[in-house]
Amino acid sequence: MLTEQLFDFLAASPSCYHAVQALAERLERNGYTQLREQDAWTLTPGGKYFVTRNGSSLLSFRIPQSAPAGFLMAAAHTDSPTFKIKHNPEKKSGPYVQLSTEKYGGMLMGTWFDRPLSVAGRVVTAKDGRLETKLVDVDRDLAVIPSVAIHMNRAANDGFKLMANVDTLPLYGMQESSNSFRSVVAEAAGVKEDEVLGEDLSLYVRTRGTCFGAKNEFLLAPRLDDLGCVFGLLEGFLSAEASGSVPVFCAFDNEEVGSETKQGAASSLLSDTLRRIALALGMNEEGYLRMLAQSFLVSADNAHGVHPNHPEYADMTNTPRLNGGVVIKFNANQRYTTDGVSCALFTAVCREAGAPVQVYANRSDMPGGSTLGSIATTKVSVPSVDIGLAQLAMHSCVETAGADDLDALVRTMTVYYGKTLRRCGEQITF
Ligand code: CO
Repeated sequence: MLTEQLFDFLAASPSCYHAVQALAERLERNGYTQLREQDAWTLTPGGKYFVTRNGSSLLSFRIPQSAPAGFLMAAAHTDSPTFKIKHNPEKKSGPYVQLSTEKYGGMLMGTWFDRPLSVAGRVVTAKDGRLETKLVDVDRDLAVIPSVAIHMNRAANDGFKLMANVDTLPLYGMQESSNSFRSVVAEAAGVKEDEVLGEDLSLYVRTRGTCFGAKNEFLLAPRLDDLGCVFGLLEGFLSAEASGSVPVFCAFDNEEVGSETKQGAASSLLSDTLRRIALALGMNEEGYLRMLAQSFLVSADNAHGVHPNHPEYADMTNTPRLNGGVVIKFNANQRYTTDGVSCALFTAVCREAGAPVQVYANRSDMPGGSTLGSIATTKVSVPSVDIGLAQLAMHSCVETAGADDLDALVRTMTVYYGKTLRRCGEQITF
């Protein structure tokens, strides 16, 4: 079942580093070779490759048998809003020990209360003068962010401010307990505590994805934004027929904090990789630019489905619902990259895939969010469409989506990644 495969992937991806490791393992099982940015690249026709940066972003691509016609790209993001653990995390509070955290991304903080939480990420160790990065997942119920009882906070149901330096610090232990946080993390990583010189750790919720509803038509799972799209894109990428273009699968870190990092969509990662593919295939700079001139990008990030309790937040006529199909997103101010041409092109793909398609636009007085597409296309300027899965409770630690939509996304991306791009005048087409 597709949904169980998604839940397995989500469970294997408690952090962006784990998500990239899970993607890399999947690609290797399917015959893909890992390239390193520091090595010289030799690419052969029919070859299948992937490259990572910072262990948190991954790009994969295939070389067609004949001279390639453009880059056939789709991108989603590996990161989700969470609480990062600070470097010196232990803080005493009366008889308790708490962990000091800070917000990563724009989360719904209230959803993180009163749930079993664990910690995952990476540690960097030094042993015999050598630095080594290891992924770590404590993988047990380790902490909780406790609510204040209604008896002490009568305003709890009337809306009140949450302060990240006070209200959301997780309870970790009793002061007299001997296990330091560092020792717990080191043990989970299989290293000695004093070998750990640095770390990137965050909280995650210990909830496995589940189907629910009258006909099990809904998915409830953590990190659906945007690992749901990452999963759907990869499934399509792996099952597509051979293309005469270079199919490129992109999973970027740091979308939730603006993408402007060395491995984010605003970095050189995409353009570096595309340029190196062209150079390794014997093209010069002009050849690379000609490739770009017949390329296309699908930017996939989840969309707001109309809310059952608050339909008034949706646009009057562009009102996606769960299980209504793949969502194409429009924004007049170009926070989404879709235009008439890219909408038509992607809609044609959806039709061919037999996948329903629906359209999202912000209610006209609400600003809405932005995503990868508009950022990536300032670096690699190609026509692009913004799409996603309709969901509820975006940036809650557990989000709701439609089971049928995942299937529609996979079918659509399978058709997309088998296309060969062409350019006729100003128009990109298949
Ligand atoms: Co997102």
